Order: sequence, then structure tokens, then C-alpha cells
Amino acid sequence: MEDAPDLAGRGRAIFDHLRDLAAADAGDAAPGQAEVAVSTDAESEPVPEAVRGPGVPRGTDARPPPSATEADEFDLTAAALDERPRPSSDGQIAAASPAAIEYPAAGSFVRPLPRFIAIANQKGGVGKTTSAVNLGAGVAELGYRTLVIDLDPQGNATTGLGINPRNLTASVYDVLMRDVPIDDAIEPSSVRNLFVVPATIDLAGAEIELVPAFSRELKLRRSIEGGVGEDFDFILIDCPPSLGLLTVNGLAAATEVVVPIQCEYYALEGLGQLLRNINLVKGNLNPRLELSAIILTMYDARTKLAEQVANEVRTHFGTKVCRNVVPRSVRLSEAPSFGQPIIVFDPSSRGALAYRELAKEVSGGAPQRVR
Ligand SMILES: Nc1ncnc2c1ncn2[C@@H]1O[C@H](COP(=O)(O)OP(=O)(O)O)[C@@H](O)[C@H]1O
Ligand SMILES: [Mg+2]
Repeated sequence: MEDAPDLAGRGRAIFDHLRDLAAADAGDAAPGQAEVAVSTDAESEPVPEAVRGPGVPRGTDARPPPSATEADEFDLTAAALDERPRPSSDGQIAAASPAAIEYPAAGSFVRPLPRFIAIANQKGGVGKTTSAVNLGAGVAELGYRTLVIDLDPQGNATTGLGINPRNLTASVYDVLMRDVPIDDAIEPSSVRNLFVVPATIDLAGAEIELVPAFSRELKLRRSIEGGVGEDFDFILIDCPPSLGLLTVNGLAAATEVVVPIQCEYYALEGLGQLLRNINLVKGNLNPRLELSAIILTMYDARTKLAEQVANEVRTHFGTKVCRNVVPRSVRLSEAPSFGQPIIVFDPSSRGALAYRELAKEVSGGAPQRVR
């Protein structure tokens, strides 16, 4: 779903408001999180070396954790993206920008559990929901207790995990708007260790109903502060395709943002704005927030364009981009209509393989917690 014009306008107004706050209160140094360097060896079969990223090491990469200057790096990146070389009409991309920025690698250090990850990109159809469902299933299969919070009124993560929105006693709408405890809205999925806070269509109203609400940007954070982190290792928040209040709630409740990028012509369109808005939330609402990983999705190995887009994204974001790339696969698009993650629907498919490897890479092999 693309934004309805009124919601897009509302999103802009909210971020304008945050920008004003930032201007009024300059100096938003954020504490870096303590993280430990480790190795990962996740590797996806069908993706060529060039796409995995030139110079991206396969094994140990002991870079330091993100520093307090990361906010500045976001700004640089956002500006750089606006000036990036664009593919010409024949799909060729001009020489790569020299201003590549070094980020810590997506899987180069183990982050402490629990991890609160917003999956965000204001573009629709880039693979946010597919990644929330299948990365969620992948980390659940690794043994981590995982909660997918569906923040999109379309409820695709909900139905994709086999939940019938008609049979619910509570949904994320009740959590945000009626102060229902989040525990009361958690539903099990067909995958062991994988749970979901479902969304129903009434969530569309929340985008507007939240506007006059007290602490409107922090509703989700307040609800998960109650102890979800004790019960779950990974909390994945599937954001809607807009930069409105629901997405702000997702970003304010998370400590990490994972951005899926579709390997298509307009892949980087709007990414500068997304990064600036992540920075605004970081500066005003949530100093711990950081861009932790970029996932390349719908990679079609038969096209030159996909490879070029992947290379361009790696030029800008370096090792922030996950080594494992999700291939374009019909099986991945069929699985939701059966209410199953790909590892259940077709466990030996390329899509299942890719999301399994991605789950290893993103989790970084964090030690399981004893409960
Ligand atoms: N790797 C893929 N290969 C093929 N189809 C995909 C892939 N990832 C997502 N899709 C399909 O593309 C559409 C958009 O994906 P989705 O995850 O819903 O995007 P978003 O949540 O960003 O709007 C869906 O129909 C989905 O099934
Ligand atoms: Mg979606």
C-alpha cells in the first residue's frame, strides 16, 4: 500500500515537529551500546561474490561497536544518498561515489539480548513484512524466543503467520489505544518459539487517533517496557509503509532499525529521508537507536540491474549490508497465502535457505539465555 496523501502529510508534520525540537535542543550525543566482536560465517549459496560485497570478509571481522558519532555518519549518508549516482536509462550506474562510509558490519558483533528491531522503510513492497516473518521464523528456529509485532494496518505479518484477525480478543490497536497489556495480545504461531502481536484493520485509525494522545510517540515503547524483553530474545517490529506515527512508535520502541532494500531501479529513492528521520527519532526520543543492518531483497541474479543496485548499496553502506541477499523467489511470495513462513512452507527452497542464513548472520550466534 502506498501512503494515502493525508497520512504522508501527517508523517511529514510529525517529523517536522521532531526537527524543530532538534533545532531547539542541539547536542544529542548518544551513548554507544556495549557489544562484543565475534565471527560469523553465514553465506548464501546463490549470491555471487560481487554481490556479497567486494572486500567484505567472510570470517571474523572484529570492528569496534558503533560510536557516539554515528548520528553524524547517518547525516553524511543521508546527504550522500541525495547526491548518489543514478542508473541511466539503460540501467548503467555511474562510477561509485568516493564518499563510502564505514559502518560496523551487520553481523560483526554479538548484540546483547533482548534485541528490539524495527523493520522499516517508508516504501511499500520492499520486503519488510516478508523479512519480519521469515527472519523471525529463522531466529526462532535457532532457538531464540521471538515476537513479531505487526504495526501495519494491512496485517500482512499477522495473516502471514497464520493468525486469523477475526478471531482475536486483543490486537496491537488495543495495546496502543486502550492500554491493554501487550501480554494479552500475544498469539502463538505454528513455529516453535515464534509469537505475534497481531494487527487488524482498525489500526489504520490509530494513525489519526494517536495525534491528540498523551505521549503519542511512545505508546508502543511504554507497552513493551512492561517486561516483553524478559520473555523474548528478538522483538521484530514490522512497520507500515509510511513515516507516520505508527512508524515513529516502532522506531521509538526499538534499539535497532533494519532496512530492507529491494534490488530494483528506485531502490535508494527516499532512503536519505528515512535515515534523516531515524536520526530525528534518535535525537529526540530514543538515543539508543541505530541502523544495524540493511537487507537486500528480491535479488534477481539474472539481471545486471540487481547486481548494480546491490553494489551501489554496498558502496554507500559498506559492511552494514548483510552478506546474505534474499533472492527473488515465487515460493516466498506464495507462503503468506498459506499462513506459513517459508521454512515451513518450503523448507528446502532458496528463499528458506536465504532467510535461514540471514537469521544466523543477524543473530550473530548470540548465546541463548537461560530461563
Ligand atoms: N524475495 C522475494 N521474492 C519474491 N517475492 C517477494 C520477495 N519478498 C517479498 N515478496 C513479495 O513482494 C510483495 C511485497 O513484500 P512485503 O514483504 O509485503 O513488502 P512490504 O512489507 O515492505 O510492503 C509481497 O507480495 C511479497 O510476497
Ligand atoms: Mg508490509
